[in-house]
Amino acid sequence: DEPLRDLADAKGKVIGTAVTGSKLTGTYGEIAGREFNALTPGNAMKWGSVEPTRGTFNWAEADQIVDFAEAGGQQVRGHTLVWHSQNPSWLTNGTWTAAQLRRLMTDHISTEVGRYKGRLATWDVVNEPFNEDGTYRQTLWYNGLGADYIAEALTAARAADPSAKLYINDYNVEGVNAKSTALYNLVKSLKERGVPIDGVGLQAHLSLGQVPSTLQQNIQRFADLGVDVAITELDIRMNLPSDSAELAQQATEYKQVVSACVAVTRCVGVTVWGFTDSDSWIPDTFPGQGAATPYDENFAPKPAYFAIAEALGGT
Ligand code: G3I
Repeated sequence: DEPLRDLADAKGKVIGTAVTGSKLTGTYGEIAGREFNALTPGNAMKWGSVEPTRGTFNWAEADQIVDFAEAGGQQVRGHTLVWHSQNPSWLTNGTWTAAQLRRLMTDHISTEVGRYKGRLATWDVVNEPFNEDGTYRQTLWYNGLGADYIAEALTAARAADPSAKLYINDYNVEGVNAKSTALYNLVKSLKERGVPIDGVGLQAHLSLGQVPSTLQQNIQRFADLGVDVAITELDIRMNLPSDSAELAQQATEYKQVVSACVAVTRCVGVTVWGFTDSDSWIPDTFPGQGAATPYDENFAPKPAYFAIAEALGGT
């Protein structure tokens, strides 16, 4: 019954969780602090959260999470700078020239990364740039600036905080497939061009029974490119109500995912996307599904919790 973070520390790995700042008190705060050596703000650092009105910033929740993490000796993963979703309406509804859009993007990066300079371990600089078939997603950024918005964003982030590890993060890139191969080719070309890129984030929003058989092989091929890999948003959802057989299978699958990361030196660790079913995005987005995290709604550890501990070397 060692906390997960002690097991992970002993292996030199990250075990993180996404958190909601307003909940970091009481039992939620105790578990977040005791069990995890890293935190990711689930929403607090997104553009729409920090600059809802142009030029008017709200850092309260982001600051609260960073302060909590520092007080507890936890790393912070900044999430996320350049994305197609959760942007402020002033940005998405505006009409911008390419030069204006580039300036908005790089100013946003300088402002946010600069605010936390030296305090964050990692930034998800670009989030979800690809379609499932490996083509670039048509976003505000891609449509306005072309594919090189990715290199420009990474370069701006490096300038704003040279000590933060810079990542591209996406979903459905856990196994070897068209989308992960597009990400692989992008990272390879960025490295060849000397663009600052330190890692890839595999979100890992999985459904029960769907852990890709090529997960470890895929992690390894990115590592072999000379970048770190992180599992950044792990959850494993199922149809509700869940039964004990499904929760046992979920535990097996959590263990598979964490073990695949532990097995690859350059896989820095695993972050779960909310540690309790009471703070998970799944029921809102997939009606009828849930039970996706390692703790139930009443903060009782589920079989998945003990499976993570085992994968981290616990007994
Ligand atoms: O803050 C408002 C609140 O004032 C309002 O009462 C409430 C009513 O629905 O909505 C609240 O905002 C919600 C916000 O989460 C905070 O709870 C938004 O509607 C909701 O859309 C938003 O969902 C977030 C989602 O990203 C948006 O795409 C989830 O919490 C967050 O977990 C999820 O995280 C993403 C990662 O950033 C990227 N990868 C996928 C992952 C899951 O979608």
